[in-house]
Amino acid sequence: MNLIRLVYASTVSEPLKHSDIEQIIHAAQTHNVEQGITGMLYFNNNYFLQCLEGDREKVNALYNSIVKDARHHNVVILSYQEINSRDFQNWSMGYIPISSATKPLALKFSSNHEFDPYRITGHSAYLLLLEMKKNLPTAW
Ligand SMILES: Cc1cc2nc3c(=O)[nH]c(=O)nc-3n(C[C@H](O)[C@H](O)[C@H](O)COP(=O)(O)O)c2cc1C
Repeated sequence: MNLIRLVYASTVSEPLKHSDIEQIIHAAQTHNVEQGITGMLYFNNNYFLQCLEGDREKVNALYNSIVKDARHHNVVILSYQEINSRDFQNWSMGYIPISSATKPLALKFSSNHEFDPYRITGHSAYLLLLEMKKNLPTAW
């Protein structure tokens, strides 16, 4: 098994309701458990930032399916690398909504208050998700 981590950014296609997000997360968690994929999804009402970890072929296949999802567009890979171990092993897909806790973190890794994942490096995007996971309870 070749373990890899992929981080991408995308733009929401139309305003999503809380129930839409819940549906994405529920489907993701069910499928990801089956595929041995772990990761984190951050959503700030405009943009998604997602990290996927797992077997290279499985992550590639999932990414190809996610890219075609009409609920978002302008899907851009920010980083893709082989890894020795997972960082998000406790989450089949952890969900981080924008909150008073995440806003200062977004600023820490980008140039201004308006978080724009297309304007940060892949490494910053990864570090941002790592910081955000500290606010999340462990869950599968
Ligand atoms: C931002 C975003 C993140 C997603 N993350 C995942 C995920 O981690 N795992 C997953 O199985 N589906 C995820 N999906 C849903 C997939 O795009 C797709 O709907 C799902 O894999 C079902 O695909 P299928 O109908 O081809 O089986 C995500 C969708 C969006 C919009």
